Amino acid sequence: MSNATAGRWPHILSPFKLGALELPNRTVVAPMTRISADTEGVPTTQMATHYGAFARGGFGLIITEGTYTDMAQSQGYRDQPGIVTPAQVDGWRQVVNHVHKAGGRIVLQLMHAGALVQDNRFTDETIAPSAVQPAGEMAARYYGDGPFRMPREMTRDEIKAVIESHETAAANAMAAGFDGVEIHGANGYLPVQFLTPETNTRRDEYGGSLENRLRFHLEIMAAVVRGVAGRGLSGMRMSQSRSSDFGHKWNGGIDDARAIFAALTAAGADFLHVSTHQGLGEEFDSGHTLAGLAREFAGIPVIACGKLEVPENAEQILETGEADLVAMARGALADPSWPNKLGRGEDPVAFDPAMISPFATLDATIAWRAENGVTFED
Ligand SMILES: Cc1cc2nc3c(=O)[nH]c(=O)nc-3n(C[C@H](O)[C@H](O)[C@H](O)COP(=O)(O)O)c2cc1C
Repeated sequence: MSNATAGRWPHILSPFKLGALELPNRTVVAPMTRISADTEGVPTTQMATHYGAFARGGFGLIITEGTYTDMAQSQGYRDQPGIVTPAQVDGWRQVVNHVHKAGGRIVLQLMHAGALVQDNRFTDETIAPSAVQPAGEMAARYYGDGPFRMPREMTRDEIKAVIESHETAAANAMAAGFDGVEIHGANGYLPVQFLTPETNTRRDEYGGSLENRLRFHLEIMAAVVRGVAGRGLSGMRMSQSRSSDFGHKWNGGIDDARAIFAALTAAGADFLHVSTHQGLGEEFDSGHTLAGLAREFAGIPVIACGKLEVPENAEQILETGEADLVAMARGALADPSWPNKLGRGEDPVAFDPAMISPFATLDATIAWRAENGVTFED
């Protein structure tokens, strides 16, 4: 890296200590569902190559795609990976080893789809806090078609079982060698279905007040902390927007943000990952981004996400102290060597929706690269 280039992006390219992890720079690969595991949810060698490319390309930290947590209702997509069976744990170990050998660090994202199941090989039934039909339609790029099924209301025993399965899944992630675990608490999946009054009409301790609607997030957070047991990082991804409603805001505004972020720290989170459409956007007329509010209210390291593959945006959000790390999804998918190219003063490959069309599979991305003559360092 020339001094002139390093000097242009001093914040993006500076190291950071996240828990016990020494990150060489502030860049993070955001979680991206790639529906490319085998039919039994076992990660493949193709996936190991996919994740290894981000490590070789210089990303400080990689967060995996959303991974299901049990052999019941958690799976949301066809060919989504799980972290439940011994074969799935072995498959992930291969991915982790590949990333570590390439000098990278990798965290597993745990995901329970709740009512937003498009395909589940264990059951046709979907569950949710309440029997409320999800808004919106299934996503075609994940093999979905038409409206979502009407979910059945979860019993309290089922809630307990889902919480326990998060502890086991986190322990399995540690057995596979991951550097940490992130819970997908964003984008409308099961935790968000609990948090949102329209999808949670329960009258027990999981419904009603914010304290009650947030209980599920906090209990799975604590379960993951137990499963990780000090062997890695535990964190939570949060967003206000839902896949069916990009403009959704927490109904209590900044007061909800304060309560939610502070409670997650108290539940044991080591970091928070805040996803917004525009990472730099101001929230609640506060003069801060949502990531900045998380940093202030939670007091732990915060990863920001949302159009931060624009280097000026990434540099600004770090420089103004609104975030500790910058994650990117589409930018990383388009160019796994984004950090190294930034360091060398080269332009990264730009995202093209054709990279995830007609389906968001690894095959589609590989085909796009072949057609466009794009190769990456290996
Ligand atoms: C193909 C694709 C798959 C995604 N899958 C996930 C996922 O599994 N978990 C998650 O939390 N977010 C997922 N997201 C959302 C991204 O992590 C990110 O929040 C969003 O794309 C905005 O960031 P960007 O502007 O850097 O792309 C996905 C996005 C894309 C484009």
